[in-house]
Amino acid sequence: MVIASGVLRPGAPGNPQLSHRCAVSALPGPLRHNAGMSHTPTPLLIFAGSTRAQSHNRRLAQVAAGIARAQGAQVTHIELADFELPLYNADLEARGTPAAAIRLKELFHAHPAWVICSPEYNGSYTGLLKNTIDWVSSPVKGDPLWSSGSKPFAGKVVGLLSASPGALGGLRSLSHLTPLLLNLQCWVTPKQFALSRAGEAFDADGQLVAEPARQAVQGVVEQALWAAGKLSNS
Ligand SMILES: Cc1cc2nc3c(=O)[nH]c(=O)nc-3n(C[C@H](O)[C@H](O)[C@H](O)COP(=O)(O)O)c2cc1C
Repeated sequence: MVIASGVLRPGAPGNPQLSHRCAVSALPGPLRHNAGMSHTPTPLLIFAGSTRAQSHNRRLAQVAAGIARAQGAQVTHIELADFELPLYNADLEARGTPAAAIRLKELFHAHPAWVICSPEYNGSYTGLLKNTIDWVSSPVKGDPLWSSGSKPFAGKVVGLLSASPGALGGLRSLSHLTPLLLNLQCWVTPKQFALSRAGEAFDADGQLVAEPARQAVQGVVEQALWAAGKLSNS
């Protein structure tokens, strides 16, 4: 597994970030995740629903990942471009689920908390996000591990962010993504944040220019980590 610029790349064994352990006393309570007998930092998965080189949502995911790491989370930041999924087609699937879909199932399942940065296309989320979720939620015939389509999703706490050059910041994409995730048995955080005028929102280092925007992203990240910690301890 290659990690470039803090982004997890698929295809190699093991995730070094997932094996990281941290002293319990060093972590605030909500950020602890009860994994069996041991307490570890909460594993948080972050990805954006865009593969565009200059994507605002990919930038926002980078910011969210930095905030989550500073909060003591174990962050796995993936790029969907690295998971080459064809357009979902049941006939194609009948010939075998793509390895990238299985890898994504494993990643989704392994992380109790997620942050998704969703672009808005035509008042909704992108085809890339829908296609990814369709593949990951499709049961794998003959594989008892993945016979339940909702297994990678059920019980996950998902914080939602969006970014758009427009005035609404892609907010409408989140209002469509929320019921989709609820249908898959995810818990969507009440806090969400849509970054408007995204073209002017980041500085040359990729950081958010406006402190209130940074705080809003932090609020979503913290709530996702907090709720995932609560659910894992219940
Ligand atoms: C097909 C299409 C539809 C779009 N529809 C919307 C829209 O409904 N609302 C909006 O705010 N932006 C819309 N946009 C602009 C996107 O927000 C903009 O391209 C944005 O940069 C995409 O996210 P990204 O930067 O993460 O790739 C649309 C863009 C495309 C290509």
